[in-house]
Amino acid sequence: MVNGEADVVHNGSRSEHRLLQARIKALARQRNAVTLAHNYERLEVQDVADFVGDSLGLSREAAKTPAEVIVFCGVHFMAETAAILSPAKTVLLPDLAAGCSLAATIDGGQLRAWKADHPGAVVVSYVNTSAEVKAESDYCCTSGNAVDVVNAVPADRDILFLPDVFLGAHVRRVTNRQNMHVWMGECHVHAGISPDDIAARRATHPGAEFLIHPECGCATAVVDAISAGAIDPSGVQILSTEGMIRRPAAAPGDEFIVATEVGILHRLRRENPTKRFYPANEAAVCAYMKVTTLPKVAAALERLQYRITVPPDVAARARQALERMVAIGAPSGGGSRQTLSPSHVPAVDPGE
Ligand code: 13P
Ligand code: SF4
Repeated sequence: MVNGEADVVHNGSRSEHRLLQARIKALARQRNAVTLAHNYERLEVQDVADFVGDSLGLSREAAKTPAEVIVFCGVHFMAETAAILSPAKTVLLPDLAAGCSLAATIDGGQLRAWKADHPGAVVVSYVNTSAEVKAESDYCCTSGNAVDVVNAVPADRDILFLPDVFLGAHVRRVTNRQNMHVWMGECHVHAGISPDDIAARRATHPGAEFLIHPECGCATAVVDAISAGAIDPSGVQILSTEGMIRRPAAAPGDEFIVATEVGILHRLRRENPTKRFYPANEAAVCAYMKVTTLPKVAAALERLQYRITVPPDVAARARQALERMVAIGAPSGGGSRQTLSPSHVPAVDPGE
């Protein structure tokens, strides 16, 4: 366990957790509810969920579940996405404070102004956006299928990619797409994982593979280091959270430096008990993900709170962009099929 994880991730004793988890399971049966949890949720919340995954995998589960109620243990935009994809279902967010600093970097008015500056451009929005922004978009994507979505846009069409500047730079590197404009938003958690963090971890674990989420501030520095020959490209994987979950089973080594939110370490360690995982920065904690606790999940099911709805006209426009996202790429869940290789890496990072 990483330093500090005990304080941040655990909340109550194991026996309290077991009682609450049993209560949640019983309530979910009564309500005909499914519980979905993101890979960054508290470990005891992940453990009670019917499905744990990345944004893409959770969207797919929300779209196909026969349950009448979806309890979304994630952040607000994820619950909105579920409400858009499943308008007949009751979608619950256990705590309305579960926001997202990245989604907050652009609103509908700002996107409309950006579009007016680039008439005819195709808008590709990362799923970390409000319903209003999705409604102004042609495609949504997640980190699991952003490359596939951009490749689906005809090469001669300009692209407005938003809101994450680091994911945008990564997608441009991999696709070598020059006519792609990138919004300058960032997630405070991933932007805070710095090249210095990577350098310090490399010094301690020289043989470890890097698993890097493309939202990370360090991703560009690592790619530069590959270009300069300072890092072996075969030891680097830029992946969605679900891609990270799958990677260790296929990797030759047994040590991994993990550059994303530390909640993912729970599944990585549980699913790969013989391998070792080191956080790139153990302070990389998304407070928005951690507001969801077992008592709040139980209260959500008891009181059917807090219901997330999207106005029908906004939902109808957003649904088209989301359905394209759900249909494109990574057919088995949310893991990116794109890995970083030297042929994908131009010498100069075209990031804006
Ligand atoms: P994934 O799509 O990889 O699950 O990431 C979602 C997210 O919010 C990352 O910060
Ligand atoms: Fe948003 Fe960052 Fe938290 Fe992901 S880790 S939900 S992008 S604030």
